[in-house]
Amino acid sequence: MFAAIAGSYDLNNRLHSFGLDQRWRRRVVKLAGGLEGKKVLDVACGTGDLAEAFAQAGPNHVQGIDFTPEMLDMARRRPLKPASCPITWEVGDAMDLDVETDSVDVVSIAFGLRNVTSPEKALAEFRRVLRPDGKLLILEFSEPENPLIRGLNRVYTNHIMPVTASLIAGDRSGAYRYLPKSVETFLSRSAIESALKSCGFSNVRQIPMTFGVCVAYLAEGS
Ligand SMILES: C[S@@+](CC[C@H](N)C(=O)[O-])C[C@H]1O[C@@H](n2cnc3c(N)ncnc32)[C@H](O)[C@@H]1O
Repeated sequence: MFAAIAGSYDLNNRLHSFGLDQRWRRRVVKLAGGLEGKKVLDVACGTGDLAEAFAQAGPNHVQGIDFTPEMLDMARRRPLKPASCPITWEVGDAMDLDVETDSVDVVSIAFGLRNVTSPEKALAEFRRVLRPDGKLLILEFSEPENPLIRGLNRVYTNHIMPVTASLIAGDRSGAYRYLPKSVETFLSRSAIESALKSCGFSNVRQIPMTFGVCVAYLAEGS
């Protein structure tokens, strides 16, 4: 499904979030705190927007992992921006990372956890590869709490966005119909928080953005 939409994925994101998607990613990078000399692992990195934002914030190295080669092809085409650290792109599975235990300072996953077959397995992998003082950052769509905004958001994501995004992508796979369904059926905010705690994460925080359309979760490894 992601292979079918890879070529126009970034354009669709910018258009259908009215440019907010990059602001959400930059906020996640800020939430990670000081990154100097650190090692960042961006899982389900897709075309590389979040990995690129991290790479410009001062770490030593960023590794982007995704299991769709076509998304990674788009990521590899990105010219390295000024002041960016090296980024490596690799095919891999969030639930079975080919990454050493206790070796990463920051693990991030943006709009990816919802797509993983077992989010709990992925969270356990993130915990395994993070150093004890490391941080996990999750960015994921959610349903706004305000009923009016939730209703408007549902109309937009169920009836407008799938039509325009599929047209732009020339997609017949139904990828953009899957998106609103996956958001509505995914774990609630409190269930994500509980899953994080069950996997051994502490100091879990939720940071809602844009009326709660999107939520960042920050958790510590120790
Ligand atoms: C909606 S895209 C998000 C891409 C990117 N993180 C962003 O911020 O735009 C979801 C990505 O998750 C990847 N994905 C889904 N399941 C995965 C898994 N088990 N392991 C690695 N990547 C996965 C897909 O290939 C896709 O590129």
